Amino acid sequence: MKVTVVGAGAVGATCADNIARKELCEELVLLDIKQGISEGKAMDFMQSAALLGSDTKITGTTNDYKKTAGSSVVIITSGIPRKPGMTREELIGINAGIVKGVTQNILENSPDAIIIVISNPMDTMTYLALKSSGLPKHRIIGMGGILDSSRFKYYLSAAMGCSMQDLQAVVIGGHGDTTMIPLTRLATYNGTPVSNILDEATLKKVAADTMVGGATLTGLLGTSAWYAPGAAGATLVEAIVRDEKKLIPCCVMLDGEYGQKDICIGVPVVIGKTGWKKIIDFKLDDAEKAAFNKSADAVRNMNCALQI
Ligand code: 2OP
Repeated sequence: MKVTVVGAGAVGATCADNIARKELCEELVLLDIKQGISEGKAMDFMQSAALLGSDTKITGTTNDYKKTAGSSVVIITSGIPRKPGMTREELIGINAGIVKGVTQNILENSPDAIIIVISNPMDTMTYLALKSSGLPKHRIIGMGGILDSSRFKYYLSAAMGCSMQDLQAVVIGGHGDTTMIPLTRLATYNGTPVSNILDEATLKKVAADTMVGGATLTGLLGTSAWYAPGAAGATLVEAIVRDEKKLIPCCVMLDGEYGQKDICIGVPVVIGKTGWKKIIDFKLDDAEKAAFNKSADAVRNMNCALQI
């Protein structure tokens, strides 16, 4: 099994590190346009392999897509990250051209690959990758909801003083500071609704903190986060290569589900060896439906800025 990570920046390198530590593939190719960065990070990882006990072989290449040929899964992280005070949506001008070109290169060398999109604005980049590649929709997956859900669990566990592993919490909608929807009504603590434990004001604060979780980190770090996004990308790779059939919130193309068509946006989907298999209807209540439609309107508005 061969996996490629395009973009050897902080997110891409962390994603590759997670994939290799879990030995999710025999061969992992790290590609970047910046001379030497992929080769250096690949070699650095390989020099930790003896310590980590990993037999995944990571190689780096400076923009030679022939080295990525035959990849089963390709993760797109390339593009610029946001700076403090920026929204993810503001990156569209630069990142759309990058993602379109990367998608074309992937298609020419790994026509059977499943593509995971991390580059921002992720919902719109996922839509761009799908439309510009013409691939079947189940093979294009945007990584957003799984990351936002992990942040949701982080903030819930801080409020409850509990283990994050005992929480089931899902974020759907757009991967944006104002468009994502932490589903507080459906969040549970080993089967009991978290609303049995947290009062409404605290739950609202947890949801609000989750929505700006990425922006909070960008303010602290001066750039986008990488540990959680990298781990989230690797978790999607794991669900695919191990055919886990896991229910994971991801950005996928809707064709009527949740009342939306011709849009890529975060919904609960089952992930396995063929990509995403089916969308699960969480039976949203009226308030959640209204929030989802508002989120979809914002994502669709971003998509209008694309020249596909
Ligand atoms: C984040 O939320 C990079 O969009 C990613 O950190």
